[in-house]
Amino acid sequence: MKNTLIAPSVLAADFANLQRDIEMINNSEADWFHIDVMDGHFVPNISYGMPVIEAIKKHATKPLDVHLMIEKPERYIEEFAKIGADIITVHYESTIHIHRTLTQIKNAGCKAGVVLNLSTPVSVLEDILSECYMVLIMSINPGFGGQKFEEITYNKVRKLRKMINEQGLDTLIEIDGGVTDKNAKQLVEAGANVLVAGSYIFKAENPTQTIAELKKMIRF
Ligand code: DX5
Ligand code: ZN
Repeated sequence: MKNTLIAPSVLAADFANLQRDIEMINNSEADWFHIDVMDGHFVPNISYGMPVIEAIKKHATKPLDVHLMIEKPERYIEEFAKIGADIITVHYESTIHIHRTLTQIKNAGCKAGVVLNLSTPVSVLEDILSECYMVLIMSINPGFGGQKFEEITYNKVRKLRKMINEQGLDTLIEIDGGVTDKNAKQLVEAGANVLVAGSYIFKAENPTQTIAELKKMIRF
C-alpha cells in the first residue's frame, strides 16, 4: 500500500487564528506543514517570512516543508534552516547554480528539493535527480492559492516517475496547486507521493475531516 503524504498549505490558513489552525493540522492526519515564502519578485505576491515561520515552528509537531518562491534563495538557506525548516525546496528557475544550492541546503541540515514551474520540463533534472530528496511539480503558476489545477501535470508526473525509476532512486514527487478530491487519486496513480492542498482544506467546513477523506482517497 502506498503511503501518500498530505501537506496542508498554511497560506490558506486564517492568520489571525494561526495557532488554532496549526493545532488543527497537528491533530489531523496531515503529514507536513507546507510553508510558502514569496518575495514579490520571483512571484507577483508577498506572503510571510522568518518571524512567522519561527512562530509556526514553536507549535508545529510535524515537519515544515518550506517552499521558497524567491529570487536567489541561496542568500537565505542557513537562516531558514536555523528557524526550523525540515525540507527546503527551491525553484529551478530561481537560482543559477541549482546543484550548489541543493548542497547548501543539505549542509545546513535540511532535506533538499527542486521545484519546477509549469513551463519547465522535467528533463532538466536528469543530471541532478540523485541530489534531490524531493521534486515539487507546480500544477499552477506559483504566487497565489485557490487557482485551477493544470491538467498537463499528470504527464509531467508520469515522466518524472519513469526517470526516477530508471535511475533506481526513491526521490519523492510533490504536487502543489489546485489539489482537490477531483485530482488527488489520479495524481497518486501517476506517481505522486506528497500532495499540497491549501484552499481545498481550509475553505472546507470541517478541515480535519477533509484531510482524513483525502488521505483515505489516496490509500490504495
Ligand atoms: C502557490 C503555493 C501553493 C498554494 C496552494 O504559489 O505554492 O502552495 O498555497 O494553494 P491551493 O491548494 O489553494 O491551490
Ligand atoms: Zn507551495
